[in-house]
Amino acid sequence: MKKVITVIGARPQFIKAAAVSRRFLESTQLAEVLVHTGQHYDANMSDVFFDELGIPKPAHNLGIAGGGHGEMTGRMLEALEGVLLAEKPDVVMVYGDTNSTLAAALAASKLHIKVAHVEAGLRSFNRTMPEEINRVLTDHCSDLLFTPTETGTSHLRAEGIASAKIHQVGDVMFDAALHFGVRAKELGIGPAKFGLREGTYVLATVHRQENTDHVDRLTAVLGGLQKVAETIPVLLPLHPRTKSRIEAAGLHHLTEGLTLVEPLGYLEMVAVERHAAVIATDSGGVQKEAFFYEVPCVTLRDETEWTELVSSGWNRIVPPVSADTVADAILGANGTTGDPIRPYGDGTASQQILSILETLDG
Ligand code: UD1
Ligand code: UDP
Repeated sequence: MKKVITVIGARPQFIKAAAVSRRFLESTQLAEVLVHTGQHYDANMSDVFFDELGIPKPAHNLGIAGGGHGEMTGRMLEALEGVLLAEKPDVVMVYGDTNSTLAAALAASKLHIKVAHVEAGLRSFNRTMPEEINRVLTDHCSDLLFTPTETGTSHLRAEGIASAKIHQVGDVMFDAALHFGVRAKELGIGPAKFGLREGTYVLATVHRQENTDHVDRLTAVLGGLQKVAETIPVLLPLHPRTKSRIEAAGLHHLTEGLTLVEPLGYLEMVAVERHAAVIATDSGGVQKEAFFYEVPCVTLRDETEWTELVSSGWNRIVPPVSADTVADAILGANGTTGDPIRPYGDGTASQQILSILETLDG
């Protein structure tokens, strides 16, 4: 049996890993050992996903969260080195672009352990984003690069990464949406829980550092959502980073009139996504989920990694420069659609990743 250590730490990684972990449990050739860095630690940012998505319990939880980027990444790097020396895996698998991703990729590559990066090749071309640094560096120390899209593959080629290392398998988030979306439907979860009717509300999420840590942008986002709520209800599951920045900046008055809730579990989240009239977000994952459920999306950022959603008309990029800009874009998106595209594979990314890992030499 080959041993694969999967390192996860932040909300979207639990969801992506859930799709792939299901496949590890079916494999007779690969054993997965999960390591949780501890980056996200609140029950509704971590435990809920393990419970409802059936992710195996991590063998190690490093309990590392908070601090500056260097501090968090450095502490994870040190702790992960110890885990990898003890566990001696054949492969270390990482997801996405968080500090947990980079720390694990660095720890493994320094120990000459193969690194597999799921969701490789994405680029915003904005180096002020911590995620862009994380994904570029992770890609360049990875041995297996699993890209979700043609765009991701072409970015890696343009950066000189050997074609033999690149495997375009599709998006594991699409796999997750297909599999767990059915579960959410079966459970009959819906927006009524929040006092909302299907197709008659806007769903919003905000957590990106470039929005939360700049008072003018956070003011524009919240002020815009507040204006929208004068016309159509706005459901805002609040990320803990955003909650603390709203408190620190004294912007609580800008949340009046919004339906503010704690972060949701994934099954609840996909249920409210599916029935939203419009989704406004700065999340990477939520942009794609909007498309999976054919809901028009407004991305409150200066750029996106998921460019195919913009060129096809499903998504529009709206830098949050003022409340009016945000509100006009959200209200204007209502009722729009896009071209029928299928850029994220066929829902078998997870199986393809396992097959490739199973045939790996050494
Ligand atoms: C991280 C990722 C980001 C990803 C996001 C997903 C990095 C650099 N950023 O951003 O790419 O899109 O996760 O949600 O890795 N906090 C809590 N409880 C928690 C988690 C966080 O209170 O369970 C608060 C803490 O104050 C913490 C802050 O949120 O300092 C930020 O958390 P952190 O993990 O550093 O970054 P995110 O904004 O969550
Ligand atoms: N998500 C969730 N509950 C929430 C908000 C988001 O389950 O309250 C899910 C969402 O459906 C998606 C993933 O978390 O699958 C996206 O994570 P996030 O927005 O935190 O990070 P990003 O994708 O931007 O890195």
